[in-house]
Amino acid sequence: MKAFHLDSFGESARAMPRETADPAPAAGEVLIRVRARSLNFRDLLIARGLYPVPARAGVIPLSDGAGEVAAVGAGVTRFAVGDLVSAAYFPRWIDGPLSMDLAVEQFGCTRDGMLADLVVASEQSLVKIPTHLSFAEAATLPCAGVTAWSALVGGHRVQPGQSVLIIGTGGVAMFAAQFARMMGARVIAVTSSEDKAKRLLGLGVHEVVNRSDNPDWERNVRALTGGRGVDHIVETGALETLPRSIAAAASGAEIALVAALGAGALDPRLLGGLITIRRVYVGSRSAFEQMNRAIELHALRPAVDRVFPFAEAGAAYAHFSAKQHVGKVVIAD
Ligand SMILES: NC(=O)c1ccc[n+]([C@@H]2O[C@H](COP(=O)([O-])OP(=O)(O)OC[C@H]3O[C@@H](n4cnc5c(N)ncnc54)[C@H](OP(=O)(O)O)[C@@H]3O)[C@@H](O)[C@H]2O)c1
Repeated sequence: MKAFHLDSFGESARAMPRETADPAPAAGEVLIRVRARSLNFRDLLIARGLYPVPARAGVIPLSDGAGEVAAVGAGVTRFAVGDLVSAAYFPRWIDGPLSMDLAVEQFGCTRDGMLADLVVASEQSLVKIPTHLSFAEAATLPCAGVTAWSALVGGHRVQPGQSVLIIGTGGVAMFAAQFARMMGARVIAVTSSEDKAKRLLGLGVHEVVNRSDNPDWERNVRALTGGRGVDHIVETGALETLPRSIAAAASGAEIALVAALGAGALDPRLLGGLITIRRVYVGSRSAFEQMNRAIELHALRPAVDRVFPFAEAGAAYAHFSAKQHVGKVVIAD
């Protein structure tokens, strides 16, 4: 099999290609011929050695991929050869609350991930991909898609007619915009340029605030809601943006805290308002399956920024690090 491996971690670490013997599925496992993968911010953190869960040296990176079942091990009942599948971010988190024990097990981190042509995974970690999607589109779902889904339905569920604020044009924000529209909500976005603002409007976002022209963008967001504030915020920016998100929130709003807060502390005086802040960590296999049903029913197509060939995985990492993308960066065959 062909795969890229992270042999060391740090600012200049690069995943290196290697050929090894093809794996075979053991009992309860499935062999997947991976056809496409996508990048997430955590993949940069892992390569740099900055991710909170320490990765295994030599690991095959990337949590997100989609492919075809090439073989099944003894006793496998959920999948058959030829099924089109994707793996959940946390291979053992099936449903219910996440525990630390389940959280430390992750593809592309503590377990080999998707930057390979063949991957073996437990049948319990897999889901069928929505039938109308290409492999490139399906490969965007496991982390960014499920995170956005959990942000909008895992706590206060978005109701039709409510407002949802998304921050930036990364993978999670773009999925959140599409899901919020699907749920009948009004979507307001904050972004950094006119070009990205146009692309957001083209993707169906209702209103956009350019934060380069409006550094105090929370005021513009509030003004767009007639001073009331927004009902839901998908906070993908963290400590820098959280005080602004709190200031843009309506009474009773929920902020789904997607980005890690990082170093520093939040001024507790900011938490005086009647809002809920809820931490999100991707989601379970069951959330993934629920999201896929909605994606299929609404024929939703993920926003793919650019697709790189497998041999050019390094160029895909470089493009993703440059932060000029809108939606997902994909590595396909
Ligand atoms: N908890 C979880 O389960 C989970 C899951 C996935 C991701 N995450 C985290 O969520 C964050 C976003 O990840 P992603 O992969 O979706 O995004 P991404 O591709 O890394 O994009 C981030 C975007 O945020 C915007 N941005 C950057 N700095 C900003 C600032 N100071 N103020 C406002 N906007 C800013 C930029 O968009 P514009 O140029 O358009 O403004 C940028 O392109 C990361 O911190 C990631 O680690 C967490």
